[in-house]
Amino acid sequence: MIADFNAAHGAPGSSCSSGKGKNAAAGSVSLTNAIEVEHIVKKYGDFTAVDDVSFDVKEEEIFGLLGPNGAGKSTLIRMMTTLIPITAGTARIAGHDVQKDPEAVRRVIGVIPQALTSDLDLTLEENLNIYAKLYDVPARKRKQAIDELLELVDLTKWRHAQTKTLSGGMRRRLEIARGLVHSPRIFFLDEPTTGLDPVSRVAVWEMLSNIKKNRQLTILITTHYMDEADRLCDRIAIVDHGKLVALDTPAALKANVPGSNVIEAQFDNTPADWEQRLHSLSGVTSVQHVGACMYRILTSNGSRTTTELVEMAVQAGVPVKSLSVQNTTLDDVFVHYTGRQLRDELVKAYGFVMPPRPGLQP
Ligand SMILES: Nc1ncnc2c1ncn2[C@@H]1O[C@H](COP(=O)(O)OP(=O)(O)O)[C@@H](O)[C@H]1O
Ligand SMILES: [Mg+2]
Repeated sequence: MIADFNAAHGAPGSSCSSGKGKNAAAGSVSLTNAIEVEHIVKKYGDFTAVDDVSFDVKEEEIFGLLGPNGAGKSTLIRMMTTLIPITAGTARIAGHDVQKDPEAVRRVIGVIPQALTSDLDLTLEENLNIYAKLYDVPARKRKQAIDELLELVDLTKWRHAQTKTLSGGMRRRLEIARGLVHSPRIFFLDEPTTGLDPVSRVAVWEMLSNIKKNRQLTILITTHYMDEADRLCDRIAIVDHGKLVALDTPAALKANVPGSNVIEAQFDNTPADWEQRLHSLSGVTSVQHVGACMYRILTSNGSRTTTELVEMAVQAGVPVKSLSVQNTTLDDVFVHYTGRQLRDELVKAYGFVMPPRPGLQP
């Protein structure tokens, strides 16, 4: 059973609301912004890593920065969390300007950097205790905070284990607990699931949703996983080459893409003009050639396009090897705004690899 953290810790400004859209409480006329970024720029010499980006994050929102490696996600987080200077523009965190009042910003934020940073030779409890002391959590509250956090991330029974014996997913969960030890109001997580296996990734998502249900917390998360952004985030900003290319709820982003269904079809021995012929089918808004005789077709009328596609293939003597029809996904949103597949970008880029787990090797 998870205790009510805010009640236990006397967090200020409790509004007793829960669930998405909680900011629109009856009678409230304006929404408070936890994060306000205006025309922010980061240059490294002549290279512009973040190029005139502006966005607001509402209180208690889960906001996703989605983009391929090198898009500028970590650079944005580092500027918002006072770790690197801003070249131009402003960022305000809980009303505090990161350049003018970095100390005030640091007091209200928790940050989970992209790389794992817990001390491997210490136990989980020791790692959490060090951070609690670093952040001046009063001694009488430390034990209770650590008890609750270990419970929250489902690591209570590992409390006295050395951190190096944990799997990558468990270490991520420990780091998330560590980032919350001083009850921050705004939590920044930089690619918390990169390098994790699919099961551990889902466990981290569930844990983050759980944390959101139990605390009044604004979360800014970066990811290059579309499914993660779709499932977790209230709103998503797509960043590419340092620029913000789209910002909305996952549903609205998908609705903006022309075509409501995606047909993936693989053929054999297609003629040279096959792509153009697919384009001419009813309802089709775009056709991508994604692999050997494999096509991804966006359409406003999935069933009609599919029927016509099969008829055309039969008439042309082109075998259909596989066929699937789905709703539009965030992958299609990314292609729509950038002209590229996010997964292609990831294959090209150097990926972060979870470090080995020295304690539990067979
Ligand atoms: N300290 C630095 N010096 C020079 N270039 C950098 C530095 N840090 C990041 N970059 C460059 O800025 C761009 C954005 O990087 P980053 O914010 O880490 O992207 P992401 O987190 O989206 O993968 C990349 O092209 C990266 O090589
Ligand atoms: Mg990064």
